[in-house]
Amino acid sequence: MADTREGTTLFSPYQMGKFSLSHRVVLAPMTRCRALNGIPTAALTEYYTQRSTPGGFLITEGTMISPTSAGFPHVPGIYSEEQVEAWKKVVGAVHAKGSIIFCQLWHVGRASHGVYQPGGAAPISSTSKAISNRWRILMPDGTHATYPEPRPLKTSEIPEVVEHYRCAALNAIRAGFDGIEIHGAHGYLIDQFLKDGINDRTDEYGGSLENRCRFLLQIVQAVATSIGADRVAVRMSPAIDHLDATDSDPLNLGLAVIERLNKLQLNLGEKLTYLHVTQPRYTAYGQTESGRHGSEDEEAQLMRTLRRAYQGTFMCSGGYTRELGVQAVSDGDADLVSYGRLFISNPDLVLRLKLNAPLTRYNRRTFYTHDPVVGYTDYPFLSKPSGTKEQLSRL
Ligand SMILES: Cc1cc2nc3c(=O)[nH]c(=O)nc-3n(C[C@H](O)[C@H](O)[C@H](O)COP(=O)(O)O)c2cc1C
Repeated sequence: MADTREGTTLFSPYQMGKFSLSHRVVLAPMTRCRALNGIPTAALTEYYTQRSTPGGFLITEGTMISPTSAGFPHVPGIYSEEQVEAWKKVVGAVHAKGSIIFCQLWHVGRASHGVYQPGGAAPISSTSKAISNRWRILMPDGTHATYPEPRPLKTSEIPEVVEHYRCAALNAIRAGFDGIEIHGAHGYLIDQFLKDGINDRTDEYGGSLENRCRFLLQIVQAVATSIGADRVAVRMSPAIDHLDATDSDPLNLGLAVIERLNKLQLNLGEKLTYLHVTQPRYTAYGQTESGRHGSEDEEAQLMRTLRRAYQGTFMCSGGYTRELGVQAVSDGDADLVSYGRLFISNPDLVLRLKLNAPLTRYNRRTFYTHDPVVGYTDYPFLSKPSGTKEQLSRL
């Protein structure tokens, strides 16, 4: 719940449901393409433990719930025994450093390509509309291609996809994760159902807000009743149009999801762990969004309205600097702040933010490459800086 007590800062402890956090700086979920052929490797253990702090909270990169869910090379999965066993090592090492870790469950839907699909099939979605040529998919050989036409899921197929989320969540718990985050953001499968700029269905999963929210809510319900609502979180980005995920009324879409999550929590008699909302000022391409989003003030207002409506822990993300994070928490606009790009290049980000120390600049070119070290685990710690003065300049 809102914690607006005077003196609360980004570095104050926070009780996130049953998890006692020692600070509010969270590792945002980030695809890094280092899990060769879908299996977490020792490099992931190193990467996540580098970013662990006692009482800290980490969210993994988007993790495939099923063989049809990938749209990037070398992203990890959580649907096979081999993957579960491999994740155990990562989670065990993070726990040994005192951090709490959730696995982000991901299905990219139409943001995929035949090369990532079993038998080269068309990717699944809510629609048959392809992502426009404005966007390109990263191919396994490092080149970029246009997105193909997806295959709209038949109504009768949807329960099977919900079941994939449920099984993936159970697998995550077996792997030792403290909980899971359902990736309902950024234009991927769930967002392809939520947004009226994509969803053109005429069945009970399309049209009204009630119908567009149905897929997400069925997933949350299925997962929460299997592993406990207090281990389940949801991520959404109602105002972000990444991969053409536009909506005619982002605020009311966000409020519609929240209203239903609040109701579900009441019915279950238990709160979800948190709601994670990405703010539009973030874009993976380092530019502004397509121009549909509003001013900084309007965006902040949207986040505040969503924050006030949600009856539970609220995490914000998207372009947060130290100052903005400190302000969001002390103003009561968020309980937790997730940091993405700054955490890529600053494994000890929590310490650096606390000390207001200089930050290392991130190198965008190695975000999605596959080297187990370069651009992944070779960013310097404060105590042994190896960066140049320029790299270490204050961001
Ligand atoms: C390299 C990279 C990969 C990302 N992968 C994911 C992902 O797998 N799942 C997700 O929900 N968000 C993903 N994001 C978005 C981040 O979680 C975060 O919301 C975004 O980077 C904005 O935060 P920042 O401004 O602190 O970087 C990714 C961002 C980056 C830069």
